[in-house]
Amino acid sequence: MSRFDGKTALITGAAIGQGRAHAVRLSSEGANVILFDICAPVAAASHVAATVADLEETARLARANGHGVITRVGDIRDIAALREAVAAGEKEFGTVDIGVANAGVTPSPFTGVDVTEELFREVVDVNTFGAWNTVRAVAEALLVQGKPGAITVTGSGAAYKGYAGLMPYVVSKHAIVGLVKSMAKELGPARIRVNAVHPGTVNTGMFGGVGMVDLYLPDLPQDERTIENMRLRTAKGSPMGLSFVEPEDLAAMVAFLVSDDAQHITGGEFKVDGGMGIA
Ligand SMILES: NC(=O)c1ccc[n+]([C@@H]2O[C@H](COP(=O)([O-])OP(=O)(O)OC[C@H]3O[C@@H](n4cnc5c(N)ncnc54)[C@H](O)[C@@H]3O)[C@@H](O)[C@H]2O)c1
Repeated sequence: MSRFDGKTALITGAAIGQGRAHAVRLSSEGANVILFDICAPVAAASHVAATVADLEETARLARANGHGVITRVGDIRDIAALREAVAAGEKEFGTVDIGVANAGVTPSPFTGVDVTEELFREVVDVNTFGAWNTVRAVAEALLVQGKPGAITVTGSGAAYKGYAGLMPYVVSKHAIVGLVKSMAKELGPARIRVNAVHPGTVNTGMFGGVGMVDLYLPDLPQDERTIENMRLRTAKGSPMGLSFVEPEDLAAMVAFLVSDDAQHITGGEFKVDGGMGIA
């Protein structure tokens, strides 16, 4: 008997990075998965975009675990698309029990004075409204089903610290904490749990987006502003000397939080960051 036998999970941002790791991990423990991703560039994002081929690769890896897989190309800013994905999961698998609101974008650095309204709005639209849409699409279905469930929302170190040059991202991720705490209170009576996961620096394409070397290494000459030196710099922030954690480290935490092992845990914030976020 595996932890998620007979359960279905909606995972956003599933094409690459942490989302793929969540899909592989949850399906390896018995879950059917609904894999949702925009599979296209987002204007505000500084980093590499996922493709339909990436989403299909995640689907292939999840299917290899022997459970059901549905893919949907869609935007988390579109609640109708998320509701359709959840409904498709219910139709195909009879139930939706778990939500993993993971999709997000990091913009290139600008000061809070210089950033454009357009960029600020888009980052909040994706990272905050998109997370809310994901939570409510799953919660609505659970409330109609009258079943307990569990949802995680991916925050960041930027959900509890300020970062010069990343104000819109920091705002969008701080909001995740408010979303999680409030919805955990509202949904608790229905036994629907909502928790936040805060990654440190993760070994995905999001690290090292356009302009990030300048943000991390402003003191170094231009030719030394490399991803490798960024890694060395981030390792200084971890008492364990880690320059990054792996997507699978986040997947282990999410799998715990959405499992019955965490049945009495809700409204919490969980750092997976090699200690980078110790205050
Ligand atoms: N990588 C890091 O260092 C790091 C650190 C802290 C927090 N995070 C957070 O972790 C989460 C996952 O990031 P990752 O590291 O896997 O990055 P990633 O870029 O590898 O994956 C992000 C995924 O989200 C998808 N996505 C983006 N906008 C979308 C939208 N509007 N609709 C649907 N899908 C969309 C992308 O297509 C991509 O597949 C994000 O919320 C991110 O903010 C990442």
